[in-house]
Amino acid sequence: MEASDWLDRWEQNRIGFHQPSVSAYLQQYLPEIDLKPGATIFLPLCGKAHDIAWIALQGFQVVGVELSGIAVKAFFSEQGLSRQQSESGRFLLSKSGAISIYQGDYFDFPEEVLTECKLVYDRASLIAFAQSDRARYCEYMRSIIPPQTEILLITLDYDQTQMEGPPFAVPRNEVEELYQSHYQIEVLVQNDVLDERPRWREQGLSALTETVFRLKPMVSR
Ligand SMILES: C[S@@+](CC[C@H](N)C(=O)[O-])C[C@H]1O[C@@H](n2cnc3c(N)ncnc32)[C@H](O)[C@@H]1O
Repeated sequence: MEASDWLDRWEQNRIGFHQPSVSAYLQQYLPEIDLKPGATIFLPLCGKAHDIAWIALQGFQVVGVELSGIAVKAFFSEQGLSRQQSESGRFLLSKSGAISIYQGDYFDFPEEVLTECKLVYDRASLIAFAQSDRARYCEYMRSIIPPQTEILLITLDYDQTQMEGPPFAVPRNEVEELYQSHYQIEVLVQNDVLDERPRWREQGLSALTETVFRLKPMVSR
């Protein structure tokens, strides 16, 4: 997927990845992570997810990055929030209270914005990249977040020969390859979710597994 493909998807409203409500996994597992009130949580490739607003309501600072101006505008209007816009380097920053969304390319995102980041919430971000780009995505992440930052990661896995991504299939062993040198990897839950998404069965999938990982950095906090 090129940047232009994502922008086209937003223009044509082909956003099947957008969930109509807050992620149940987020609601279940975020409280288990020991974060102080006001801690900063980073959402790479944030779209217009309801998760953004929910995290802010829990008392955290949210920093998101998203390529599409349509997505950013829709987020604020759908949440009924007015935003202040300003230029910030290569990004257009939209801010409302504890929420800051940077419109631009994740691979340009500056580490200075994330010096206080305590958690990355990755829902449909790693799996938005084809396999050839995933190591680059993870390496860039490590270059911009503080070393003690945890990651809450949600992936999908299926037989990649049965369907083209995105979302792309990311097997557990690949998560291990990508992260195990710097993180202790814990599987919080793994669910077979094909019955909940009949559209994907129609597209040819015979199995679909969703996994939530908690990645704890192997450095002292
Ligand atoms: C699969 S969607 C997931 C969105 C969101 N995380 C969610 O749960 O709804 C991937 C999003 O990443 C955005 N995106 C893709 N490549 C990007 C990049 N290089 N930098 C910033 N955003 C990007 C797309 O526009 C799209 O909104």
